[in-house]
Amino acid sequence: MSDFLSRHNDVLAPVLAFDTDIHAAKAEGIWITDVDGKRWADFACGTAVTNLGHNHPAVLEAAHRQLGSLVHSGCIVRYDSIVEAAERLRAITPPGIEKFSFANSGAEAVEAAVKLAKHTTGRQGVIAFRGAFHGRTMGSVTYTTSNAKYRDGYHPVLGSVFVTPYPHPYRWGMTEDEATDLSLNELRMMFKHVVTPKNIACILIEPVQGEGGYYPAPARFLDALREMADEHGIKLLYDEVQSGFGRTAEWFALDHYDAKPDIMAMGKGIANGLPLSAYGSSRETIDAWPRGAHGTTYGGNPVSTAASVAVIDTMEGLLPHARELSKRAFERFSEMADSHPTIGDVRGLGLMIGVELVTDRESRTPDAKAFSHVEKHAFDRELIIINCGPDANVIRFIPPLITTREELDWSLDLVDEGLTSWESQDR
Ligand SMILES: Cc1ncc(COP(=O)(O)O)c(C=O)c1O
Repeated sequence: MSDFLSRHNDVLAPVLAFDTDIHAAKAEGIWITDVDGKRWADFACGTAVTNLGHNHPAVLEAAHRQLGSLVHSGCIVRYDSIVEAAERLRAITPPGIEKFSFANSGAEAVEAAVKLAKHTTGRQGVIAFRGAFHGRTMGSVTYTTSNAKYRDGYHPVLGSVFVTPYPHPYRWGMTEDEATDLSLNELRMMFKHVVTPKNIACILIEPVQGEGGYYPAPARFLDALREMADEHGIKLLYDEVQSGFGRTAEWFALDHYDAKPDIMAMGKGIANGLPLSAYGSSRETIDAWPRGAHGTTYGGNPVSTAASVAVIDTMEGLLPHARELSKRAFERFSEMADSHPTIGDVRGLGLMIGVELVTDRESRTPDAKAFSHVEKHAFDRELIIINCGPDANVIRFIPPLITTREELDWSLDLVDEGLTSWESQDR
């Protein structure tokens, strides 16, 4: 073990699970360079954050400029960058999302959004979906069921959170319609047997389930949730923390659907690496949340919000390129699926692509070892990829939006070769 790793492990809590032992010196664009000058393309994007690539010049320039004037307010004084960031958010979110508030992390934004729903409806229940990831604080871990390990050692979690299945057509061996019907039926049964809708403040959902395995919600499912929410006065709350800010080659995953939320939470790509998250809703809803009912010291920090303005201004021009990359990636993965029996399913939206690896297509048994093999094959050739899904067997393919067509092809070649090498092994 290097001296650096020994010092690291000596003073840092092991609970934070680092994916690699890379001792980073700097990062720029898609590349991370370590202290010995070795480099890797970061297709993990710092866990789906640096959608514009690391250290994007426009974002750095905005942050530097703000650092030179005002670094902190802590809700004492008012400043331009927070207003400008909220104005930018209003311009890129649906018409029903009109006013915003900021926080520091995805979990915090989700929790605040749920508090907004509870306070303004006067109800306490939350519907969440099995397989969801909403964060790790005590509130958001209650909504998180992408893996039971996140709750190990923390029970009891919060009460009045009702978890019902998110449609997982591939895992269930069903068509999308069958899986949608099953999930809707389970939710209706929940309302009949467990909790009546009049107790529910919000239905909390990722329009593309992320950590849980990169499952885009079927449009009919979101339409039905929208209808139920309208019928029962429930707020429909989209968690776009991972699926937002160009990840699906649109501003948000919701841009791929007709059903729009009453409240939405955002984070990760919002400031391309500076700590920031946000949530928004209609003027009517958010204005009914009284002053002081929620708060934050650092949320909407001047530097992070200045960076976010630059992110939004820069990203606009990149979305068409992201769509091109997405088209190419889906074409290549579908070709790979023809020649690699290890690929069970390819799914996703835009550049939020999940490639599920299995031991065989009949049993659909998740194959985490196949993923580890492909991951190592890529890593040894300067490409970082990560997984998702409760069985760690889904390639989470999330290139930065600034990736060139050549770099994309190179990364896809590495995945293809990694699968060939896995399948040619005597196992
Ligand atoms: C959909 C979703 N919501 C919330 C979170 C929590 O974000 P954070 O880790 O910034 O608290 C994540 C993080 O992966 C996420 O993917």
